[in-house]
Amino acid sequence: MKIATFELERYFAKYEFSTKYLLSSSDCESLSMSELIEMASQETLKAWQELKLGYTEIYGHPLLRESIAEIYSSLKAENILTVVPSEGIFLLMNTLLKPGDHIVCTFPGYQSLYEIAQSIGCDISFWQPQEEQGWKFCINDLRKKLQTNTKLVVANFPHNPTGYVPPLQDFHDLIDIVYQQGAYLFSDEMYRFLETEETSTLPSASEIYDKAFSLFGLSKTFGLPGLRLGWMASQNNAILEKMSQLKDYTTICGSAPSEILAVMAIKNRQQIIESQRQRIQRNLKHLNEFCQKHQDFITWNKPIGGSICFPRLSIAETTLQFCEKLVTDTGIMLLPSEVFNFGNKHVRIGFGRENFPQVLQILSDYLEKQK
Ligand SMILES: Cc1ncc(COP(=O)(O)O)c(C=O)c1O
Repeated sequence: MKIATFELERYFAKYEFSTKYLLSSSDCESLSMSELIEMASQETLKAWQELKLGYTEIYGHPLLRESIAEIYSSLKAENILTVVPSEGIFLLMNTLLKPGDHIVCTFPGYQSLYEIAQSIGCDISFWQPQEEQGWKFCINDLRKKLQTNTKLVVANFPHNPTGYVPPLQDFHDLIDIVYQQGAYLFSDEMYRFLETEETSTLPSASEIYDKAFSLFGLSKTFGLPGLRLGWMASQNNAILEKMSQLKDYTTICGSAPSEILAVMAIKNRQQIIESQRQRIQRNLKHLNEFCQKHQDFITWNKPIGGSICFPRLSIAETTLQFCEKLVTDTGIMLLPSEVFNFGNKHVRIGFGRENFPQVLQILSDYLEKQK
């Protein structure tokens, strides 16, 4: 398999564990083991203490799949295949696609959402947002991208990196367009439930369309990326079964401790998500003030959902040059838009972490000193 370098992951690999401050992370503040275990019910604690560290079921622990299904109003445990989130993208693309298929994918975005299709030999059309309209993805633009051989539409809302979430009617129109085409829909919903207004939370595509596959997991919204636990939800059990057979060649099954810890988290999802949302609200206030204070440096479209946004910088150099200088001078890592292969004028800011106000203050002081 030949596949291009994952630019964003390489940039993180360079700095994530060596620099002092991260200002681009997409995952919310992580919970500790003890915080999670404190929330657990007697039943889950018993499962944790008695857990044997053997292989686990390919689809995931039955208790876990039942807990996951509770997040959806119409899906059942059998509609859930647990995966490592990034593995889910790999499994779905390799199950559905063959060379010569055409796909449409939101862009800029998380690179594997289109790069895996590219590596299979598919033709890819990018569905791009309008920055001057608040990063809106226009439904008419999507319509224009479809071809007779379009097999799959890939959408990611709340969107990484812009934080855009379409209005409900647009989302229904999107699904209707994919349905009329007879295509599959891959809906990456990794940032679901982090919308700034709860009313902006979209339904899961997997509940609306029987050829839709929704990816969700514990990495972003729950702040538990270290569990490496996510799932693909779909009414289409035949494709889930094919994915599970491909999983024999990737991870075979999930990690036993992660599965039980995941049950604890999902059973307490209201509390965990509420606390992440509150942190995001607090941090967004700081970011708003920062953007007002440094208007000559930064302009942004406020995100509608997720833990990240994609502001434009007014600087003489490229964003890559700026970010490399910033990390050397201050220890702050920011992601330049070059890693999204999207020009050199934007950066991704992540506002899900507890130390966000402090790091933003260091950036603010740095910018003042440059004047
Ligand atoms: C949109 C999107 N999908 C999938 C993933 C993969 O999640 P994980 O890193 O937990 O495998 C990410 C991670 O950044 C993401 O942003």
